[in-house]
Amino acid sequence: MNDPAFAIETDLQTQSILLAAANHDIAALRNLLRNSSANVQDPETGFTPLHAAIAACEPGTEEANRVNGHENGDRNGVREGEDSEERTQELEGAVKTVRLLFENGAIWNDLDGNGETPGCIAHRLGLKELYELCVDGGVRAELLLSRLDEYQPLGDADSDEEEEDIEEVLKGTRETQDSQEVHLDDRELHPDDSTRNPNYLASTLTFDRNKIVDETTNGVMMGWETTFMRRSAELLLPTTGLRVLNIGHGMGIIDGFFQEKTPKSHHIIEAHPDVLKQMKEKGWHDKPGIVIHEGRWQDIVPGLMERGELYDAIYFDTFAEEYKALREFFTECVIGLLDPSRGADGEGGKFGFFNGMGADRQVCYDVYNKIVEMDLFEAGFDTEWETIPIPDLDAEGEWDGVKRKYWVPDKYKLPTCSFIG
Ligand SMILES: C[S@@+](CC[C@H](N)C(=O)[O-])C[C@H]1O[C@@H](n2cnc3c(N)ncnc32)[C@H](O)[C@@H]1O
Repeated sequence: MNDPAFAIETDLQTQSILLAAANHDIAALRNLLRNSSANVQDPETGFTPLHAAIAACEPGTEEANRVNGHENGDRNGVREGEDSEERTQELEGAVKTVRLLFENGAIWNDLDGNGETPGCIAHRLGLKELYELCVDGGVRAELLLSRLDEYQPLGDADSDEEEEDIEEVLKGTRETQDSQEVHLDDRELHPDDSTRNPNYLASTLTFDRNKIVDETTNGVMMGWETTFMRRSAELLLPTTGLRVLNIGHGMGIIDGFFQEKTPKSHHIIEAHPDVLKQMKEKGWHDKPGIVIHEGRWQDIVPGLMERGELYDAIYFDTFAEEYKALREFFTECVIGLLDPSRGADGEGGKFGFFNGMGADRQVCYDVYNKIVEMDLFEAGFDTEWETIPIPDLDAEGEWDGVKRKYWVPDKYKLPTCSFIG
């Protein structure tokens, strides 16, 4: 690696791939990809070939002008019809290029120097088809990753050597994925130690009127989410006298809405000692129908299932847990806790959750939404989605005093799930 000739050659190869991608030159790119990775990065801009192929479609860029024949950005003399015909061809070239890169293992969520993934650039430039290709690439990659996560050697490889080979390939894929900077997480952008569940549960919380933050000012729960909580409560408990289970009390917003429906029983699982203390101070233990289970849902739920507890509605909204935890909850626990035959409406029990994975950027939110819908279906749920507009949180100063902005999309997709059939 310290050989200067080797370094120059590698650099040239990288620049050639980036150029071929920016020019949407399929023949050259295919040729170059025979011996090189689709995941090279420009040391200055951080562009990967995917970034380059998409950014080249920005009107007014050198690449776009050259591809469109407008040297020096001079658009004079080009008739409208010709112009849009060239634009269509340019976009078709970009689509083919992006497809080829994905076929060759391009990573969907690498960040460039501006902190953008290729999908972020497509979204910013309003390039719908390219954006959808990035979302689909993300869904494929994340599904593969979750399957790899579940992979256990079955011991049916022909030899130990073969098993070691399989492990080696999987390790490589996991490492490639682990090195990505963009993850699908809930309310925590770039998880660090403070956002791991045991560390969060050991940290001291600060409560104010409009939010809860942890020791390092990660936003645990914020008042602007009230709209989602109110609507989820309405959909989950359409009538009075039902049985509800809520996982994660936080600011008690959704539990307050549940109480308004005078449920027959209202169980809450909460793990954080500071939240539990607040609950006592606010008199939650004395409210009608309330049963508080102190501890992590992972430790409490098995006991509820053993006792045969059933609910008409379940809501799940924890903090500092990965998507894996939510998936485990709806694949393994909801089936044992939700009554499939509730009430006079005969609709069966309903399950809802805070849908905030990947919401620190639009492309991750869209990838995650597709994955969660597939996983819910696989687990036996039909999901109805409602779209709720979100005001400009920056303008309203919502992030003041919060370490990281965990919400970017201007719309919230609210899920309500029921058993299929
Ligand atoms: C985002 S808040 C919930 C907000 C709530 N939906 C509301 O309307 O205010 C998340 C809550 O889950 C709790 N929590 C985190 N991990 C948990 C776990 N493993 N088991 C139970 N509760 C947990 C946190 O302490 C916190 O109170």
